[in-house]
Amino acid sequence: MNTHMKAIAMTPKQKGAVSLRDVEMPTPSDEQVLVKVLQAGVCRTDLEIYEGLYGEVPNGSDYLILGHECIGSVEEPGKSQFSKGDVVARIVRRPCTDMCLNCKMGEVDMCSTGNYVETGIKGIHGDMAEYFADSPEYLVKIPSSLGKIGVLMEPVSVAEKAIRQSMAVQERFYWQPEKALVYGAGPIGLLTAMALRIRGIDTYVAAWSKSGNLKSSIVKQIGAHYISVQEGEIKQKFDIIIEASGAVENVANALQLLNPNGVLCLTSITGGNKEIALPLEKINIDFVLGNKALVGIVNANILDYRNGIADMGLFEELWPWLTEKLITRRLKPEQYLEALVKKPEDIKTVVEF
Ligand code: BGC
Repeated sequence: MNTHMKAIAMTPKQKGAVSLRDVEMPTPSDEQVLVKVLQAGVCRTDLEIYEGLYGEVPNGSDYLILGHECIGSVEEPGKSQFSKGDVVARIVRRPCTDMCLNCKMGEVDMCSTGNYVETGIKGIHGDMAEYFADSPEYLVKIPSSLGKIGVLMEPVSVAEKAIRQSMAVQERFYWQPEKALVYGAGPIGLLTAMALRIRGIDTYVAAWSKSGNLKSSIVKQIGAHYISVQEGEIKQKFDIIIEASGAVENVANALQLLNPNGVLCLTSITGGNKEIALPLEKINIDFVLGNKALVGIVNANILDYRNGIADMGLFEELWPWLTEKLITRRLKPEQYLEALVKKPEDIKTVVEF
């Protein structure tokens, strides 16, 4: 086997310091699995790392291999339960060194110290490379029927966590959500809308672009309603709002669009420090008198990956071949610079190794 492989790597915190380089092949330990990467998705967080806003190198390395959304094929299963050729997705987050209670209990996505590490983001190499080696506990087997959309596993897991956590918050009373609003028609927004639709909720998706594009067409095909925020204020109210647009203006609006007893779930990672004036006294009284809830979520639990696999199966049954349409660009590793610059019509860009 080769001693070196291609990887898209970055010197974090240095704007644009990314390249396709030859790096050493990972050598799996006895406990690890060697995975050949098939596809790696590009996410907004990668673009922010590329902008120099985030990112931490692993100990002893002066670069970070990007990528935290991939599917790969098991090359060397080692002693694990996997077989050669199994298709797997990779879990992003790993416990903090302090081993806080949540990390100890396996709820790493709820780490309470912030000292967690994340593949391709913070302290561990990611999967925009030909191979990676990892412990089997961080790999999730993807059924072959989902092969073509398996690369969407990580964003699906975030959508699942948003819904699961919103529902958990609402266990404080009797609640039957009828109407939902999702801000954002990127991968997380659309996948969240799909997951809400299979739960029978009347769903609206609000995004910037005017109707008549791929995003609005996907929204229509899942039986949801598309709203362009350019075309006027949203006047309706919702039982559940999930914000996944990355635009804080939408967060400001969302705070004012909940029905009594409603829940607003925030999922966008925003790297800036924009300030927006808000009618806070009105928002406060509406939250208090309406028993409303606000919850933020990040990353995902293994449970969300499992729920995601089940839901993606349902997406395929209900809307055959639709989920695949979310992958709008497939590029080669050599096209990494194109991959890291977002085009207005992009939903998900995927690098194929
Ligand atoms: C990833 C999460 C990660 C978060 C914060 C997101 O882009 O999807 O898994 O926890 O960034 O680093």
